[in-house]
Amino acid sequence: MKRVAILISGGGSNMVKLVQDMVGDHPARAVLVASNDPAAKGLARAAEMGVAVASVDHRGFGKDRVAFEAALLEPILAAKPDILCLAGFMRVLTPAFVRRFEGRMLNIHPSLLPKYPGLHTHARALAAGDAEAGCTVHEVTAVLDDGPILGQARVPVLPGDDEAALAARVLVQEHRLYPAVLRRYAAGLHERLDL
Ligand code: GRF
Repeated sequence: MKRVAILISGGGSNMVKLVQDMVGDHPARAVLVASNDPAAKGLARAAEMGVAVASVDHRGFGKDRVAFEAALLEPILAAKPDILCLAGFMRVLTPAFVRRFEGRMLNIHPSLLPKYPGLHTHARALAAGDAEAGCTVHEVTAVLDDGPILGQARVPVLPGDDEAALAARVLVQEHRLYPAVLRRYAAGLHERLDL
């Protein structure tokens, strides 16, 4: 049974879907949900589902990313994860942290990578007049939003869409894609899944 730790920064809607899917004959189980924000709503949702939680407030470390990550690593390593899932985790991780988990760390990004790495992905798709948008699950490497793509899901951009409408449409697909990709990834199937 693979052990999965999930990192969040906010509501954790993707985390909830991942945890809910890791039951029955799923080859993995959630062993920890950790956040850089002790007030992240997702921590209470994880605890309600019986998953161990931890948080390290990144604001206490100023610009010292290495010290913050050293503190965050403690509960993560104690949980002995086989796989790390970033799910709405909004801190950029140092290459040293990534190297520890390279090849077993996933992230979900709300765009059709390689388009729109970074922030404000929906606003950028709308500004570009794209006919479609979507989300990507990829392996995390030292370069932000750049690792091997494990899956994508696409949605139409509709006339009159604003950022909130598009984000909501993409989020529905995130909640389908991430659990489907993790289930295969935990079973050792790493070829790309397009929903
Ligand atoms: C989602 O759009 C996700 O793609 C991005 O963070 C947003 C919130 O995710 N990474 P969640 O509800 O906290 O899972």
